[in-house]
Amino acid sequence: MTEKQSRDPRLTDDFDPQASETFTSAHETYADLRKSCPVAHSNEWNGFWALFKYDDIVSVLKDSKTFITSVQNVVPKVAFTGRRPPLHLDPPEHTPYRRALNPFFTNEKMAKLEPALRQITIDLLDPYIRAGGGDICADYTHRLPGYAFAEFFHLTSDLSMKIKEVTTIYDKALQEANDDLVKETSLQLYEIARDIIAERKARPLDPKDDPTTALLAARHEGKPLPDDMILGTIRQLIVVGMIAPSVLIGTILLYLAKDQTLQSRLRRNPDLIPKAVEEFLRLYTPYRGFARTANKDVTIGGRLIKKDEPIALVYASANRDEAVFPNPDEFDLDRPNMKDSVAFGLGPHQCVGAPMGRLEIRLTLEEMLRRTKRFDADGEVKMTRWPEWGTLSVPLKVEPV
Ligand code: HEM
Repeated sequence: MTEKQSRDPRLTDDFDPQASETFTSAHETYADLRKSCPVAHSNEWNGFWALFKYDDIVSVLKDSKTFITSVQNVVPKVAFTGRRPPLHLDPPEHTPYRRALNPFFTNEKMAKLEPALRQITIDLLDPYIRAGGGDICADYTHRLPGYAFAEFFHLTSDLSMKIKEVTTIYDKALQEANDDLVKETSLQLYEIARDIIAERKARPLDPKDDPTTALLAARHEGKPLPDDMILGTIRQLIVVGMIAPSVLIGTILLYLAKDQTLQSRLRRNPDLIPKAVEEFLRLYTPYRGFARTANKDVTIGGRLIKKDEPIALVYASANRDEAVFPNPDEFDLDRPNMKDSVAFGLGPHQCVGAPMGRLEIRLTLEEMLRRTKRFDADGEVKMTRWPEWGTLSVPLKVEPV
């Protein structure tokens, strides 16, 4: 125990975020904590608070003046390689980056991206399905987001190859907690972001069609956005936008492999897939949570949290809070309020890329179901760890059509 903890009786050790986990154990622990200790403290990673109840988490998300992200936006705090907008900035500094990025995730933009993304999905899934299956994470989910970004950023073939290679390695290394490889590939991702910017400076595209050109053309109070912040933004988009779809898709396919009734129902009725995606996002929220820091002392659920103490908002627990979602552990396609889920956060930092995340998942389900007669679980599943939740390895046996 550190000196600070031994002096301060508030800083109890209520749960262990590093405990080894099965497919169901984390959600069971969170259900217990919601009852017995909804505002908890852990001594891991130099100590942090964690909120488990939906209402507490939503109140924090709605008060971005008190609960800021610029000190720490995730527990544990990762090695600081520079401020990366928009996540690491508080409003109003945060606003110009969102203003530049938001137009790239409209329904219209997603409809334009869809055919290319569908083709990527097909090209990656086809050999996997023809081979009769394998580990869907190694063969598909670690790869898809990088391929999608190559398209989103309109990359030339060299850069496109590089982003696909590095993101595939980074995604797996991060989920396996292979710290040396994460560091190495993280620096490579910065290089890639630098190359994307250099390419767009040399050959700008239409700022309405290309996010990098738009960031370079953006003006805030009459001035361009600083170069290092544009670099940070591109790097942030790639990393935040990579992990969640990758983790969640493996989980969804495993769930469907174990529930053949739902699998055939979705295969027969693909129009139900968008609703299923929402319910899967609620039930298997892939970012367990992000963090905030209070800029003054606050009391939540009767516990005093002091200024500057990190607070993890456990979205994966909020989304199974029985006070908001009755029978929270059940997958229910008719759940009336599934859109109250905080899988994408809420407030100023609510996920900018949510429409692209939803699209990647929907297209995967459509193509996987269309191209198979059935698929089944086929071996040991491995789980990723805090701050993500989901599968790291999912062997499937696949029957092609
Ligand atoms: C299943 C897919 C996804 C999930 C579940 C997800 C989840 C989240 C969550 C929970 C946040 C809020 C962070 C906070 O509260 O501090 C967030 C923010 C963010 N996400 Fe996503 N995300 C997904 C896909 C994507 C994609 C595909 C992109 C990029 C194309 C993306 C880019 C971002 C960015 C840039 C932010 C920071 C926004 C800000 O600070 O204003 N995400 N995401």
